This record gives sequence, structure tokens and C-alpha cells, in this order.
Amino acid sequence: MPFYVKQGQIPHKRHIAFEKENGELYREELFSTHGFSNIYSNKYHHNMPTKALEVAPYALGHGEAWDDPLIQNYKLDSRVADCEGNFFSARNKIFYNKDLALYTAKVTRDTDEFYRNAYADEVVFVHQGQGTLYSEYGTLEVKQWDYLVIPRGTTYQLKFSDYANVRLFVIESFSMVEVPKHFRNEYGQLLESAPYCERDIRTPELQDAVVESGVFPLVCKFGDKYQQMTLQWHPFDLVGWDGCVYPWAFNITEYAPKVGQIHLPPSDHLVFTAHNFVICNFVPRPYDFHPKSIPAPYYHNNIDSDEVLYYVDGDFMSRTGIEAGYLTLHQKGVPHGPQPGRTEASIGKKETYEYAVMVDTFAPLQLTEHVHKCMSPDYNRSWIED
Ligand SMILES: [Fe+2]
Repeated sequence: MPFYVKQGQIPHKRHIAFEKENGELYREELFSTHGFSNIYSNKYHHNMPTKALEVAPYALGHGEAWDDPLIQNYKLDSRVADCEGNFFSARNKIFYNKDLALYTAKVTRDTDEFYRNAYADEVVFVHQGQGTLYSEYGTLEVKQWDYLVIPRGTTYQLKFSDYANVRLFVIESFSMVEVPKHFRNEYGQLLESAPYCERDIRTPELQDAVVESGVFPLVCKFGDKYQQMTLQWHPFDLVGWDGCVYPWAFNITEYAPKVGQIHLPPSDHLVFTAHNFVICNFVPRPYDFHPKSIPAPYYHNNIDSDEVLYYVDGDFMSRTGIEAGYLTLHQKGVPHGPQPGRTEASIGKKETYEYAVMVDTFAPLQLTEHVHKCMSPDYNRSWIED
């Protein structure tokens, strides 16, 4: 999505006959967004991508809604929800609304199945693990703490070098995940003032086409419903592609944070946008430099948004009792802020080492049964001084 990419062989013009050496045609697939009026890619397959031998239901659930939870502040240890599974079956849905769904996963095994999320873009934050993202567009190295931005409709596999310790935080977005508009100039190039630039973005490298017939299971996700499509041809049979729609990676350690004289709001830590929610991140940085600055945040009341934080690493300045893999949800209408002693303790501090991913949603989040299972029952009382 960030910029135009061309890989492999493509014809000199779109939508014309593109012949193999034996005279047969390569099959062009236009992969388009917003009804042919926004970004797109053209993919050139050895075989028709439509050749499905069979379509069948596929049973998979990620977590039921929790009926009628209290509107309050939540802290939960997502690791309590861990189950066995591969890169898509291990996901536990934690929070959701009409715009997005948030999952955590401990991935314990590989799979030969291909996967496609038909209705949602995915941002897969690789908290622990490393490996490779395989897709029609080629291979993309996966590093710890990568954001993998995967457009809806992409057929892919995520394979890790080992499965002893693989943990994901997945943001499923029902609108396009974008590099914020104000990070880009009118030509689409990332601005000098943006916290990352094109050099920080990694794109797939096309490999030799896999021209292989057989039985290839593809699990497709349509909202909460799954189906298995059995493909006659291996889906990674591209000889070339070009365009602006493809999976890409950005590592959180490449994010260049802003620092202010006094405390900057979370919106200054923005990384991606989508319809009705934003993704921000907190990374190591020097603290504010006013002689009387308070580095810890002020108490705040999100009147417009529900705020989810996924804790990645380090010491989170305003919270106690937080470990990597924890989540907090601070809901709109309920104030929150530093716990007792944290404001005073932050004064005079010069820098912070912390990594966290934040999702601010502008519509209220629903909670799943996993929240009930993973939550700290006394979090609401953590602001009470003994
Ligand atoms: Fe907050």
C-alpha cells in the first residue's frame, strides 16, 4: 500500500495478452480496492486463480461475546487465554466492534493450509517469534516486533522458525489500514516530519512461481464465518505483479518518536489509521524537557474513544503490575491515569524504555468471554491508596 512496487515479469501494458513461451496465456488478476477507484495491483498467474475443486464449511471459533460486562477499566493477562493452534486458528478474540476486532495468539504449530481474510485488513504485530510471510507476492522476512500489514483478500501463510515462543497481537480492520494522510505529501511520499519513511517499510520479494497441481486447502474468513476452498493449483503461481496493494512490514523499533517540552498526547505517537480507529505506539524516548515537566500522563477521560494498550516490553511508566502480553482497556466515560505514586516518581526522570501498541477506537468495544477469563478483578481498585 505505501508505494508502487513491480516484481517479476509483467506485460508492458495492462489487460493485454501476455503469453508464455508455449503460447498459452498468463492469467491476469486485478486486485482492486474501493470499487476499482483506489489502489490496486495486477497479478499474473500461471493458472486461473478461480480453479476451486470444492468449497466447504470450516469450523473455527475465537471467543463468544461476554454478555453485559460492566463499563469500567480492565487489565488482563492475554496469556491466560492461550490455546494450541496455527497462525490463524490460535487467535483469541478479546475486543471488537463494527470497525475492528483485536486478537491475541500463542502460535504453537505450523500448518500447510493457506489463509485469506476476505473482509478485513490485518495488522499482525509479532510480539515474539521470527520467520517468513509467504504470499502470492513473494516472501517477506518476519522479525520480532514487526507490524505485518496484510490487505484483505491476500492469500498467505505465516511460518515461524520454531514454535517454542510465538506470540501475536492481531488487529483485524474492516476498513483499509493506511499510513496516516498527514504523514504523506500530495504525491504520496512520506514527509520529512513523519516518524518513519519508505526505507523502513519492507515489501515482499517474488520467488519462482510454484506451478503445481494437486489439492491445496485455503481457509477463508468472512467476518466470523470460515469456509475451506480446495484449490486445484498452488496459489503462489505468479510470474509477476505490480501495484500498490501487497503485504508489507514495519518494525516498531524503526519508529522515530516525538519528544516535547511538556507531555505530548498519545496522538503524537500515531503509526497507522483506519476508519473509526487509530493505531499508536509507545517506544523508548527521552522524556519531556521542561524543568518542571511531569513525564507521566495526566488523568484523562476518553470521551470519544475506548483505549486498548498491548504491552510489549519494558517498564510502563504510569502502570504497576504490568507484564509483556498484558492488555488494558480504558473505556470512554471512565477516567484513568497514573496509579498512586507514579506521577511523583516520574518527575525528574530523563528517559523511558517501553514498547506498547495502542488502539484507540471511536466506537465502543464489545468484550468477549476471554476478558472475563483473563482479567484482574481488582484493577479498578488499583488507584485506591492503602
Ligand atoms: Fe490513556
